[in-house]
Amino acid sequence: MKYLKDIDFKNKRVLLRTDFNVPLENGKVKDDWRIRAVLPTIKYILKQPKSKIVIISHLGRPEGKIDPKFSLRPVAKKLGEIIGRKIVFIEDMLNNEGNDIIRSLGEGEIALAENIRFYPEEEKDDENFAINLCHHFGVFVNDAFSATHRAHATVAQIPRFKPSCAGLLMEKEIDELSKALKPPKRPSIAVIGGAKIETKLPLIESLADIYDVVLVGGRVAVEAQEKKIAFKQNVVFPDDYIDGTLDIGPKTTEKYKMAISAASFLVWNGPMGKFEEEKYRKGTEEIYAAIISSDAYKIAGGGESVEFINSQNGADKFDFISSGGGAMLEFLSGKKLPGIVALENNL
Ligand code: 3PG
Repeated sequence: MKYLKDIDFKNKRVLLRTDFNVPLENGKVKDDWRIRAVLPTIKYILKQPKSKIVIISHLGRPEGKIDPKFSLRPVAKKLGEIIGRKIVFIEDMLNNEGNDIIRSLGEGEIALAENIRFYPEEEKDDENFAINLCHHFGVFVNDAFSATHRAHATVAQIPRFKPSCAGLLMEKEIDELSKALKPPKRPSIAVIGGAKIETKLPLIESLADIYDVVLVGGRVAVEAQEKKIAFKQNVVFPDDYIDGTLDIGPKTTEKYKMAISAASFLVWNGPMGKFEEEKYRKGTEEIYAAIISSDAYKIAGGGESVEFINSQNGADKFDFISSGGGAMLEFLSGKKLPGIVALENNL
């Protein structure tokens, strides 16, 4: 796979795929974490003389139709505020007006194109669509790690037709999550919670082969216990719960805290209970407190865990926080991700 340092961006018009799938509220960006995460890549490219960037991203799931509530306009505004310069907005990259804007971009300019999922071809992984999108560009940079598990045109097809490389965020994600796939220190502990049993089960099974101990909580633990799914012996389930099964109970919390305090390498994905309700937050709060006070190398990820960490202003307490939800789960489940495979195959 090629990285930014392997490419000469001088004089190049660069197509940059990001994941600006951010929460919006009243037409404004509610959490700009994913926007800030790609700033190092944008700055790196624009440091090289006469380079210019067109950014493409998806937002939400508009199902191949133009839907103003999924417009990236609020993201363009936010990106402009953060970077301190105007971001050119491209309504449609494929019509004449879009082509003119792309061709006339000046040195150091940044444009953001409207939601790429407004085109049905994106999710259909359409080859011609990918070719049409990238033909004005010298280089394609993919910095959307959190979309690499999608076999979509801007993720999996473009690298077949353009010199391509991974951005700095993608590079860091692959480095750090590769460590999590081969924990360099022991005891290694994985703490897995959350609700999506269909995505978490392969993860738990795969981590059980790699980690000394896998502690399971949240809805996923309840469902695995209800379904009497058999796991390896190092997969640990709660002994008690609160209010039926809405949070892990005190006995489980103590047992999990003990295990966490002994860890030298730790990965955390998913809350321990229905943490969005105050009275079922305690399990997650106590496990989080145990994690941040442990001396282990700490990696976290997943939408809900990141939301919780941010609510505690705890991001700097972790060695790495993944921007990937589904992508992190699939990576740690040992799956090949289409967006990474495409970059690896790019010559
Ligand atoms: C995410 O938020 O995990 C990514 O942006 C992928 O979004 P998707 O699940 O709608 O493909």
